[in-house]
Formats: sequence, C-alpha cells, structure tokens
Amino acid sequence: MARIAIIAGDGIGVEVTRQAARVLRCVAAEAGLELELVELDHGAERYLRTGVAITREELAALETSYDAILLGALGDPRVPDHAHAREVLLGLRFRLDLYVNLRPVRLYDAAFSPLKDVRPEDVDLVIFRENTEGPYVGMGGIFKKGTADEIAIQEDVNTRKGVERIVRAAFEFAHANGRRRVTLADKANAMRYVGGLWRRVFEEVGAEYPDIEREAWYVDALALDMVLRPARYDVIVTANLFGDILSDLAAALVGGLGLAPSANLHPGKPGLFEPVHGSAPDIAGQDRANPLAAVLTAALMLDQLGYGREAARIEAAVRRSIELRQCTPDLGGELGTEQVGDWLCRELRRA
Ligand code: NAD
Ligand code: IPM
Ligand code: MN
Repeated sequence: MARIAIIAGDGIGVEVTRQAARVLRCVAAEAGLELELVELDHGAERYLRTGVAITREELAALETSYDAILLGALGDPRVPDHAHAREVLLGLRFRLDLYVNLRPVRLYDAAFSPLKDVRPEDVDLVIFRENTEGPYVGMGGIFKKGTADEIAIQEDVNTRKGVERIVRAAFEFAHANGRRRVTLADKANAMRYVGGLWRRVFEEVGAEYPDIEREAWYVDALALDMVLRPARYDVIVTANLFGDILSDLAAALVGGLGLAPSANLHPGKPGLFEPVHGSAPDIAGQDRANPLAAVLTAALMLDQLGYGREAARIEAAVRRSIELRQCTPDLGGELGTEQVGDWLCRELRRA
C-alpha cells in the first residue's frame, strides 16, 4: 500500500501526468498492488485565482501524509515571475531537504540520438545534481532596482555538509550499482573557493571508494565532451545549477526531454518525482506532449518505493512502445499523448 500525492501542475504537466497516473493504476491493478493516488491542485489557475500556490499546512501534509509525490510541471506564461513554481517546486525541494536530484539518462533507441554512430549501450549515465544549495537558495537581493545603478546579487551557497552528502550519494550509488566511474563537474578554475570545496570533498569521499574511478572536469569542457564521447560517462555529480543545465543537454543526447525522468530524494522522506521537462507552453493543449518521461518517472517512483517488479513492467512496456514506434511525433511516431497512455495500458494488460 502506498499513498501518492499527484501535483499535475500546468501545461503539458497536466497532460503527461494524467497518462502516468493511468499507467500506475493499470500496473497496480495487474500486480494487485494497492496505490492511493490523491490529486492536489497547485497549478497556475489556483494561484491566479487565490494568490496562494501552497499553504504551510499543505506543505506540511505533503511531508507527513504521503509516501511519494508525483509532479508534472509548473510554469505558466501568465505568471511571468514564476512565483507559484518557485513556491511549490523549490518549496518542496527545500522544505523536504531533497538533496539528491537523480536524473538517469538512457538511450532507448539509437535513432533518437542526434549523434552519429552511437549505440544504445553507449549512453547510460546518471546525473547526481545537488538540489538544495547554490544560487537556488535565493540569498541576495536587488539594490537600486530600475535605475542605471541597479545591483543584483544572488549568492552561490555551498556548504561542507551539502557538498559532502551529494558526493557521497553519487559514490554510494556507483558502488551499489556496479558503476565504474564518478565524474565531478565544477568550475574550479574560475570559482576557486567553491570549486576548492567541491574538489577537496570529492577527493576525500572518493578515497573511501577505491574500486571506483574518479575524475574532475570543468563543466564547460564536460558539456563538450558529453556530446563527443557520451560513452565515457557513468555517474556525474555536480552542483545545482550545473546539474540543471547538464541534464537538459544529456536528455538531448537520447531523444529529448520527452524521455527524461527524475527523482528528488532524501532517504527517509517522501520523494518528489518529476520529469526533467517543464510545462512546454509551446505545445500545451495539443495532445502532442510525449508522456514517456512522466511514465518513466512513475516507474522510478515505484522502484524507489520498493516495487521494483512493477517498475520493470512499466519500463518494459515503454521499451516495447518505442520499438514499435507507438509514440508521439517527437520520437517519430504518430500517436497523441492520450493514445500513448492507451497503448501502454493495453500492453501492461497483455504482457
Ligand atoms: P520545457 O521543458 O517546458 O520545454 C523545452 C522544449 O522541449 C519545448 O520546445 C517543448 O515543447 C519541448 N518539450 C518538453 N517536454 C516535452 C515533452 N514531454 N514532449 C515533447 N516535447 C517536449 O522548458 P521551457 O520552455 O524552458 O519552460 C516552460 C515552463 O516550464 C517555464 O515556466 C519553466 O520555468 C517551467 N519548467 C518547469 C519545470 C518543472 O516544473 N519541473 C521544469 C523545467 C521548466
Ligand atoms: C528543473 C527545472 C527547475 C530547476 C526550474 C523550473 C526552477 O528547470 O527541474 O530542471 O531549475 O530546477
Ligand atoms: Mn531544468
């Protein structure tokens, strides 16, 4: 029995989460698994109507009353300052102290990669993005706003504890999953205080895992090399902002954001599971969004909750839909968002 909060959010978040929830219900029914899915309204509509995105009580309830949270995407052009997305998404990441942003990147089909001569087995990496520090903390402010002398400061916050726990999580993951190498991405050449801290901690923690190779890269050079030699990469650990950028880049290597799942984790707390993509206002409401990132995110969630077999069934259905091109136009298919959900549910019942 698991109790899941569903925050579909905005734009295609709503469309893809509907399909992920259907797939969850299908696999639960087939496997005799009891899943309670509770839909919560924290999207832009509510914010625009009431001025409130999420109350303190609602945040507290998400921490105490659910086993996991499945989120679609937050972001609406009518909320240009991103207030509700920050409150809900970053609010949950900070409030629950979800310091691991785990973003697996896998090439399901060579045809999806914009790279030439790349095989599916060549791209299978996992990004460990620090999720509670960096410029995202919002320490800083604006002075003399709107004048020619305006000053904007947003501090890059890096604590010993924060760096150590994400670096350790990356090495632990590598160790537990037979991964050979952990790559650190930083900018230690330009940002020597922050880079120094990350490099020292990386060396210290890494030394505890002698079976795992470690290497440190400047993030700009790594962005280049991930495109040139994706097969080299296994586990990448990095700070919040760099991880945000590298994870979109990595998604592009394997077919785009329509295939990229993610988990925000802190052992012992409910995880927040969301596709890497946003609300995609450019395609919202057209039944064109690829729901597979959301569906794979739901599988990641089941896996983290201890339902590995059910997660594997969902992944197998996704693989089959890809093989048979029963997918959306971004992957070369002709199905709509809803039809991909139909297909996956039929496949889960059949298999
Ligand atoms: P985006 O990820 O929404 O879209 C980038 C591009 O990828 C668009 O061209 C879009 O059409 C395409 N795309 C994304 N997901 C797709 C899918 N499932 N299927 C097919 N194509 C897909 O990024 P953006 O346009 O920079 O951001 C839009 C809004 O979403 C902004 O408000 C942003 O802040 C927000 N956002 C939210 C989250 C989140 O809630 N987790 C994540 C990223 C961005
Ligand atoms: C992501 C998104 C968010 C981030 C935005 C919406 C604040 O891009 O989850 O990758 O930068 O973390
Ligand atoms: Mn992002």
